[in-house]
Amino acid sequence: MKDNAEFEAILKTIDINGPATENEPWRQYYFIKKARQYVKAKSEELGRPLFACARTFGCQMNARDSEKLRGILEKIGYEEAPEDVADFVIYNTCTVRENANTRVYGRLGQLKPLKKKNPHMMIGLCGCMMQEPEVVEKLRKSYRFVDIIFGTHNIFKFAELIVQRLESQEMVIDIWKDTDKIVEDLPNERKYFFKSGVNIMFGCNNFCSYCIVPYVRGRERSRDPKAIIREIERLVADGVVEVMLLGQNVNSYGKNLEEPMSFARLLTEIEKIEGLERIRFMTSHPKDLSDELIEVMGNSKKICKHLHLPIQSGSSRILEKMNRRYTKEQYLTLVDKIRKAVPDISLTTDIIVGFPGETEEDFQETLDVVRKVRYDSAFTFIYSKRTGTPAAAMEDQIPEDVVKDRFDRLLREVQAIAAQVCSVHEGCVQTALVEAKSEHDDSMVTGRLSNNLLVHFKGSSELIGQLVDVRLSECKGFYYLGEQV
Ligand code: 5AD
Ligand code: SF4
Repeated sequence: MKDNAEFEAILKTIDINGPATENEPWRQYYFIKKARQYVKAKSEELGRPLFACARTFGCQMNARDSEKLRGILEKIGYEEAPEDVADFVIYNTCTVRENANTRVYGRLGQLKPLKKKNPHMMIGLCGCMMQEPEVVEKLRKSYRFVDIIFGTHNIFKFAELIVQRLESQEMVIDIWKDTDKIVEDLPNERKYFFKSGVNIMFGCNNFCSYCIVPYVRGRERSRDPKAIIREIERLVADGVVEVMLLGQNVNSYGKNLEEPMSFARLLTEIEKIEGLERIRFMTSHPKDLSDELIEVMGNSKKICKHLHLPIQSGSSRILEKMNRRYTKEQYLTLVDKIRKAVPDISLTTDIIVGFPGETEEDFQETLDVVRKVRYDSAFTFIYSKRTGTPAAAMEDQIPEDVVKDRFDRLLREVQAIAAQVCSVHEGCVQTALVEAKSEHDDSMVTGRLSNNLLVHFKGSSELIGQLVDVRLSECKGFYYLGEQV
């Protein structure tokens, strides 16, 4: 994104008395300028600034999208504030599991009385859940107080939709089924000044049989490598030292570009950016993780010693039904290869229990992988039936009590191993990127190690954003207490 002065200079050249251009991103700059007028007028009427709150549900992709929403809200003239005092509340929703949807409906119910008290309040909903037609139908019928609804493909249009709502006095709904469009150079408001997510691709083509993501995020689209590099260079110039490259399946980056380029090559290019200290990425699909990538990781000075490699299930039979396109053995071989090339790498994973047809034997295979790989941590999920996915129609859905029992056993195993794995660094000195003041002790700060573990140590907030060497004195299970050396 352009810096503030540059952006304001562009806005000056835009005439909002004429019609909007069709060209993006200028079309959106036009609507940002227009929305600004409305916000300014309302703020003068009320004799105070207008406040906005963008709340994220779900994954890091959504967190990054919310920064784009905040960027636009800020440029329009809103100040950030908590939800209960905000004049504009937007929820960026997730739908990967059913409980994500339930939470959004619950929160919406709480917003209704706030809007009654404060009728000019605007409520927006966007993100993955909005890509489901049943959801939008339900909102249209039973949640009439919502002002703006859009999906995952047209976030860039946020300012335009706000203006449309202000000028029409009606609920605005704009959902695209899919897109091949990637709009660059829109504002965004970063949560941290020293680290940032960077989208490298959107969508997913894998169609794992339980997963709704390909339906709500559309087909795979990779960003132009030059646009990615340019964005990171700007971020670094702005004080960022760590980037997290984001995509549903980063290992298949670049396959659909006009000039195809591998993820490993993209990483090599990013590594060259001076001033950038750390590179992370997620999520990797085991079936697409190439030898070239392993080699690049082994040789890199900047790629962090952490790989998130979702296994989902340890049973080859279930993996096939999940359409994951690897077997338990192939996964374990891959892990061996990675560990050989990057010996001190931290491995984390995602596991689903209770997939349709999962037997106790299948579950034991999952436990076996957990014991063999010895993950640094694992996100464990109870299978959630998502309407429209192949798995939802499969026979032999597993009873709740059986799933719950397996889930508890898995969690115990995962946590016991993670605690052992975490403690091996005790006494070592490692570099931490200081992220924040410690939540529990004002005299301490919290840093993140290359392997993604957190360490708390004495220090002032001036350290935030710096890379410092820390002795890891005491392992506390899933994090460390340490001291700066
Ligand atoms: N039920 C449970 N977990 C799911 N995930 C994706 N879809 C489902 C589902 N239907 C999990 C997977 C994925 C993570 C982001 O969410 O483990 O890796
Ligand atoms: Fe879903 Fe599979 Fe794509 Fe991940 S790779 S987003 S689990 S379909």
